[in-house]
Amino acid sequence: MISLLEVKRLGKEKSAENLSKLFELYDSITDIDIKREVVSSIGRQTDKKSVFNFIKTHVFDCGCMDLVYQMYRTLLYNYRFDDNFSTLKTEVEKYYDNEIIYKMKRFYEYKHSSKNQQANKTKNKIQSPLILKGDSKIELKKLEAGSVNMIFTSPPYYNARMYTNYKSYKDYLSQMKEILKECNRVLEDGRFIIINVSPVITKRPGREFESIRYPIHFDFHRILTETGFYFIDEIVWIKPESTVPNRVGGYQQTRKPLSYKPNCITESIMVYRKQADFLLDKNIAKYNFVKEDSGDFDTSNCWCITPKSDKNHPAVFPEELCEKVLKYYSFEKDVVLDPFAGSGTLGRTALRMNRIPVLCEINPEYIKLIEKGLYGNI
Ligand SMILES: C[S@@+](CC[C@H](N)C(=O)[O-])C[C@H]1O[C@@H](n2cnc3c(N)ncnc32)[C@H](O)[C@@H]1O
Repeated sequence: MISLLEVKRLGKEKSAENLSKLFELYDSITDIDIKREVVSSIGRQTDKKSVFNFIKTHVFDCGCMDLVYQMYRTLLYNYRFDDNFSTLKTEVEKYYDNEIIYKMKRFYEYKHSSKNQQANKTKNKIQSPLILKGDSKIELKKLEAGSVNMIFTSPPYYNARMYTNYKSYKDYLSQMKEILKECNRVLEDGRFIIINVSPVITKRPGREFESIRYPIHFDFHRILTETGFYFIDEIVWIKPESTVPNRVGGYQQTRKPLSYKPNCITESIMVYRKQADFLLDKNIAKYNFVKEDSGDFDTSNCWCITPKSDKNHPAVFPEELCEKVLKYYSFEKDVVLDPFAGSGTLGRTALRMNRIPVLCEINPEYIKLIEKGLYGNI
């Protein structure tokens, strides 16, 4: 069987002879990785008429999407110079109408547009720590679009703690969505928003009623994707079992099936990226990063961290969690936002790690904690 390297060589050395050899290979080869390379090598050939006829013959019934994407790629690189390619490109987009074709199209268009240059321009940078006092829905509007480099937050858990007040779960999600929209606007294209949430349960109104358990992270996935972010990773924060409420006691005593309720020792750290028509490499390339730290780092998506309790706030981040998020998802001197800042743990950690915090908090008592943490006793 012909090797991948040999196929690549045929693609690079363009000739009528190579093109017929590649057509023969397309018909005879069954290995899909090599066949994909054959399609890509056909796309590089100079006899555009034959290349076009090949794609037109195969693109709607080749039976493998990997091959379709290679053919579509050739259409993208040729459509601006040839009407036939342009018409076929539109037909392929209509026929397949899927997210990968859509993303390829956007990446290609971006690459050839003036936006490509604009993305490199630095915004008016926030130079020092900032506390926004009030509702994030309103306060975030004061920030310039794209002025924040990372967002890490833990939203109010629907009716789980004293500080929440929503008419319904629907109302809660709709308010969260409003704020996520603002988060999307202020975040730089292609950068990360990281949200810490876990399911919550509301208290039973009486023993005769059932409580309701809300899978907040599932619903956050929906509102995050609806507001212009896409899924990157789920990191699972694992806590020592001794630190969480005991739910398994009933089953422990009775061993009755259906009564089983495990102790919940995990929370979700949802990692999403703001939509951008370019690769993450472009975000990274803006920094003159010099590797200094060769110490330990987390190799898996399970992070074991002991939760922290605080006499002044019912749900604070452990600093260790903020440290990890800041280390993996932001650079030094980045502007990092927490739209539900609480006692300001992210802000204090960010300052220590040479980032610029922007914190928004609605509760005046917690704002005092933030001020104390950022500026000392004032
Ligand atoms: C889970 S706590 C965050 C705790 C924080 N991570 C810490 O380490 O202290 C959520 C915070 O969001 C605040 N909050 C709730 N709704 C808000 C809103 N619309 N705008 C700004 N802050 C809000 C609450 O007062 C609460 O302090």
